Amino acid sequence: MKAQWVAMFALTVAGQALAAGVAQVPNPPTQYPEGELGRMVKLGEDIIMHTNTQPLTKDLVGNKLQCTSCHLEGGRSKTIGTFMGTATAFPAYSEREKTVQTLQDRINNCFMRSMNGKRPIIDTEASIAMATYITWLSEGQPMKMNAKKPVTPYFTATWPDKDVVPLIKQATHESYVNGQKVYQQKCLACHAENGQGVGNFPPLWGQDSYNTGAGMSKLNKMASWVESNMPLGNANLTKQEAVDVTLYVDAQPRPNFNLQDHLLPRSEMGYYNSKVLEEKHTVRSNFKMFGLDVDTIRGDHLIP
Ligand code: HEC
Ligand code: HEC
Repeated sequence: MKAQWVAMFALTVAGQALAAGVAQVPNPPTQYPEGELGRMVKLGEDIIMHTNTQPLTKDLVGNKLQCTSCHLEGGRSKTIGTFMGTATAFPAYSEREKTVQTLQDRINNCFMRSMNGKRPIIDTEASIAMATYITWLSEGQPMKMNAKKPVTPYFTATWPDKDVVPLIKQATHESYVNGQKVYQQKCLACHAENGQGVGNFPPLWGQDSYNTGAGMSKLNKMASWVESNMPLGNANLTKQEAVDVTLYVDAQPRPNFNLQDHLLPRSEMGYYNSKVLEEKHTVRSNFKMFGLDVDTIRGDHLIP
């Protein structure tokens, strides 16, 4: 009884933290459009749910993740990562590419980073289907193009959570050790001992997870996402726990990101809508962004 009460209290607190400053996320539509449009919505949904096995996208995915691994319930969830309202923000300016991005650009770019694969061709059925599904989720909502960043209007003000940045900047090896404890107590049961996941529980690090160019590999973004979404179905971490477990997970090895490795040859891909054609990241550089030395955080200096 008491444990149950504690769990409910924790849920309420997490829910409130999210609600503050965030407009109410609307319910997803329930009725698919008819005809060919409906078929494309369903195809897009199938790709978002089964990205690395769907015949149209499997060859473009380089890990064991699906879009729904981070955009929960195929983007229908009301937590950070929702696709509700996403389509209304596009076209949007993106600081990363230094160009105005369409929803399709934004979707396709995830293949290079979160999926550690290749950017799809923009006129293909797969690319159009994913954009059709995500647009359908925003149907009936007012359009408001975003001049600053390509994110859903429901989280523009709160994404990523600014409160976690000072906690990240002051992190030490102790935070990492605490993060490992949080991992063992609250994550390991699903994501497994070595972070490789099992069955439908996706890998958090290693060759089969997101690379160092993904949003999730940036400490402030992962901490904010984890705070809102994990442990799955019971997001109850304090900000400090979310930061500590993020340090632990993002300090583990994962594929390095070199933008050029993820573009198809120009003759196949056509035009890549970006002014930034060189971009590289490693675990080390991602920690350095916050003034942290990953070896010190991991405690490598303590190993004789
Ligand atoms: C490893 C986790 C992860 C996976 C897998 C992933 N994404 Fe994302 N995605 C993110 C994060 C984190 C952001 C926010 C990024 C930022 O602000 O830089 C994001 C942002 C987006 C956005 C911007 C819209 C918004 O409302 O924030 C779109 C669209 C998107 N992802 C589509 C996809 C698609 C399509 C796939 C599958 C091909 C995919 N993502 C796979 C983590 C992921
Ligand atoms: C009850 C099982 C469960 C627990 C416990 C859990 N997760 Fe997850 N996690 C999942 C599932 C399942 C997904 C993918 C979402 C989906 O497919 O619906 C996921 C996705 C993720 C992702 C994005 C995808 C990826 O592989 O990178 C991250 C990051 C993550 N979890 C971190 C954590 C952290 C950190 C904890 C502990 C605080 C945690 N999870 C606890 C089940 C769990």
